[in-house]
Amino acid sequence: MPLIEFHDVYYTYDGESFALSNINFSIEQGEFVCVLGGNGSGKSTLAKHINALLLPDQGSVKVLGKDTQDQNETYYIRSHAGMVFQNPDDQLVASLVENDVAFGPENLSVPTDELRIRVADALANVGLQGFDGRETASLSGGQKQRVAIAGVLAMKPEILILDEATAMLDPRGRKGLMRVCRELNADGMTIIMITHYMDEAAQADRIIVLDGGEVACIGSPQDVLTQHELLERLHLDLPFAAELSYALAHAGIDITATVNTDELKEELCALALKA
Ligand SMILES: Nc1ncnc2c1ncn2[C@@H]1O[C@H](COP(=O)(O)OP(=O)(O)OP(=O)(O)O)[C@@H](O)[C@H]1O
Ligand SMILES: [Mg+2]
Repeated sequence: MPLIEFHDVYYTYDGESFALSNINFSIEQGEFVCVLGGNGSGKSTLAKHINALLLPDQGSVKVLGKDTQDQNETYYIRSHAGMVFQNPDDQLVASLVENDVAFGPENLSVPTDELRIRVADALANVGLQGFDGRETASLSGGQKQRVAIAGVLAMKPEILILDEATAMLDPRGRKGLMRVCRELNADGMTIIMITHYMDEAAQADRIIVLDGGEVACIGSPQDVLTQHELLERLHLDLPFAAELSYALAHAGIDITATVNTDELKEELCALALKA
């Protein structure tokens, strides 16, 4: 059984235009899926359907086999599908960092000893060791984002949804979070990551591209991120390796389109040795 199922989903905020139309896909347990798309393409709207913050106007969303329309299942779904919002100010609830990170797991009735370990681990995972006693209001945007991520990690959700959660992080912070996500994913956590960073998308198992509230394309990074014309039309970048391999092929060099920097390096080395 898929962990997440979207079946003919339509959603409108204003009753006139659809923010999501005809959305059909499913995600299996343990998948790492990136969602791409320009501003206003429906990414956050789609994410909010996964933890039942928004309910479809038509069609259905099932998470862990439960229909999100069923209000008896809302708590179950929210406690298993943790979401980090695009804007950390929408997420932070307590004035002290440690209380904020503890808030989610506390609501799940995690015992006090375990709670302490979870808060410390989650803060370490986002590079905020020693920030326990800081006021959330005194933190920078990126630090608030890290606290919001730690709060969701401390819930140990089965499904982790990150809505542009790395947007405010510095390059090292982004790489660190990506490493943590890959480790959690290797341990079985299903991850849905909305991002504008193509180097992050290139590491996913699968990519969903949204355009005007519809699925424009769905497939592996190699299939999706080498579609130069489509991505350009949707104002999306290509990962570095795809951009360079495309430019080289365009210049008449016999090279395979790839999203993987190491593969590109191998090909270029082989060409250089032949020359
Ligand atoms: N609360 C809201 N009320 C009314 N319309 C909304 C609301 N939130 C989003 N929309 C509209 O729904 C559409 C999809 O918005 P959404 O926030 O899902 O896009 P997005 O892909 O997450 O964009 P971004 O990259 O800017 O975060 C847009 O046309 C937007 O104007
Ligand atoms: Mg958004």
